Amino acid sequence: MFKRLSSKLIVTLFALLLLMSASFIGFALWKTPMFLQELNQRLNLELADNIVKEKNLMINTQVNHEAMQSVFMGLMLVNPIIEVYLVDTQGGLLAYSAPKGVVKRQTIDLVPVQQFLSKEQHFPVLGNDPRDLSRDKVFSAAAIYDKQNLQGYLYIVLGGQAYDSVVELLQSSYMLRIWISAVIVSLLVALLAGFMMFRHITRRVHQLAKSMEKFKQSDFQHSIELPDRFNGRSGDEIDQLGSTFHEMSERIIHQVKLLQNNDTSRREMVANVSHDLRTPLASLQGYLETLKLKVDQLSDEQRQDYIDIAYKHSKRLRKLIAELFELSTLENQDAPLHYESFSMSELVQDVSQKFRLEAENKGLVLCTAISAQPAFVRADIGLIHRVLENLIENAIKYTPAGGKVSVSLLISDQTITTQITNTGQGIAAEDIPHIFDRFYRVEKHRNLDGTGLGLAIAQRIMQLHNSRIEVQSRTNLGTTFSFPLLHSVS
Ligand SMILES: Nc1ncnc2c1ncn2[C@@H]1O[C@H](COP(=O)(O)OP(=O)(O)OP(=O)(O)O)[C@@H](O)[C@H]1O
Ligand SMILES: [Mg+2]
Repeated sequence: MFKRLSSKLIVTLFALLLLMSASFIGFALWKTPMFLQELNQRLNLELADNIVKEKNLMINTQVNHEAMQSVFMGLMLVNPIIEVYLVDTQGGLLAYSAPKGVVKRQTIDLVPVQQFLSKEQHFPVLGNDPRDLSRDKVFSAAAIYDKQNLQGYLYIVLGGQAYDSVVELLQSSYMLRIWISAVIVSLLVALLAGFMMFRHITRRVHQLAKSMEKFKQSDFQHSIELPDRFNGRSGDEIDQLGSTFHEMSERIIHQVKLLQNNDTSRREMVANVSHDLRTPLASLQGYLETLKLKVDQLSDEQRQDYIDIAYKHSKRLRKLIAELFELSTLENQDAPLHYESFSMSELVQDVSQKFRLEAENKGLVLCTAISAQPAFVRADIGLIHRVLENLIENAIKYTPAGGKVSVSLLISDQTITTQITNTGQGIAAEDIPHIFDRFYRVEKHRNLDGTGLGLAIAQRIMQLHNSRIEVQSRTNLGTTFSFPLLHSVS
């Protein structure tokens, strides 16, 4: 039951309110006697003074017993909780009305009496209680003069022994009952209000937790669906939490899909690699075994043929391994690029020159259309060399005899675009989206030498240069591969 956040908050609120109420009652009980004492003393501020003015209590420093007796009688009847004392100028008791043995001190301290008379005191002023040595009490006092001469004091202890028991009674009954009832009522009201408020505030947290749980159960496949309450209108932390979780869930789904795709393509790649390695390796091994076993039975011509085929397969193997290594190095996120400024026209001329003989042997025309305009780019020259090699090599390989391959540069304000165009049948529209994939080779070309990695390597290199290779191909009209590079500043 106390697992929900709102229940925990209510319990905390209850504990806090209880603590507050207990401190309030404790404090009130501690301070109430002080308040009652002050009230009592203020109400009887003039009591002693009025009596002194009314009665002639001392005559020539002698106690007027008659007058005192009438005061004792009068006051005791009207208010039994007050005790009256006549005191000399040193604080010594001269007269009082009490049963024998009740009065325990014969002298009282006059300092509180002076404070009381000075009118600058802070109430309550506590003075000695002649009947109780252990505590002081509030009093009313007045000085008694006879023709300007101080004769003594009238000292009236307010709230005597009877009053003590009244305060105690009060503490244990009426006030306490009122306070406790007030505390219980406020506690219930605050708890009810708190319960409703906390339920309202924590409802969204509860719903968020439920949505998260659903997301987990869905194996991170479906993004978090948040109820309408998370409309961002309140803009508080819970709303922010909701939208952050929503974004996070979408990102997690994306990452999971990416990982799954990567895993699939990695599996495909391993299958392709092992197939592509196994085929030439098996025929290489087959030809070498035949040579070894039948070396005497084979003619010179056959032997030469077998050696040539084995050599061709070993070359293919070496190329495949080298290209795989190259691609995996380039796919590393931190592949270092060695940028430098160089002339693209010169690079195109150099690479084309390298392929000219091969093109002629195949009966093709390889021409370069380069303007005299300076065409400097800033890139990794070694890698751009590889791109050009791959694209020109492809153009020659996939153009039938009698065709034409041309390499040109398009120079605009910002970029230099290298175009490699070849005549021929072109690439079918359905093959175009796949030709940059690893190991992808168009069906009709699978009998030709090749690994299907050349374009994947070239595209990755251009990606590292924040550019990409575009291809345009129309059936029977040939194919154009192009890639732009930014002008270098110098
Ligand atoms: N200029 C082109 N004209 C027609 N088809 C092309 C051209 N360039 C590439 N292709 C097609 O795209 C496929 C992928 O090319 P890619 O260069 O990646 O591999 P490959 O040439 O088969 O092998 P290699 O790894 O040796 O380069 C080729 O098999 C070919 O079918
Ligand atoms: Mg190729």
